[in-house]
Amino acid sequence: MTERTLVLIKPDGVARSLVGDILSRIERKGLTLVALELKTVSDDVARGHYAEHEGKPFYPSLLEFITSGPLVAAVLEGPRAVAAFRQIAGGTDPVEKAVPGTIRGDFALSTQNNLVHGSDSPESAEREIALWFPDLGV
Ligand code: CMP
Repeated sequence: MTERTLVLIKPDGVARSLVGDILSRIERKGLTLVALELKTVSDDVARGHYAEHEGKPFYPSLLEFITSGPLVAAVLEGPRAVAAFRQIAGGTDPVEKAVPGTIRGDFALSTQNNLVHGSDSPESAEREIALWFPDLGV
């Protein structure tokens, strides 16, 4: 079933000039870009995006990281887009979980600075897309 997912190429991905490689992997997988924007995110949007992590030990550092510089926000569309992007991203921990061949497995060492974010469910995707791209509609 066709669905949408929200993807971020986080500030570390932009700073390390990995945007082209990551977008290429998305396109080669067969997912379609329906929105794409380079922006530096406000503290409010960062808090809204990561609300479920409030109170966790890494939360303050995560907010500082995600607001630290420009990132790329994108909406992808395709069959099982949520799971398909998470497959090519690899697990959150880029060393213990992400396998070689995935974005994190190939390019990341840090669990925080792990290059990309992808919605974890269609419900999260709907909420995150409304937050990042309020004009996109459904
Ligand atoms: P993401 O997929 O964007 O979802 C939440 C983010 O919090 C995650 O990627 C990491 O950037 C960060 N994160 C999750 N767990 C940890 C952790 N144990 N230590 C530091 N950062 C974390």
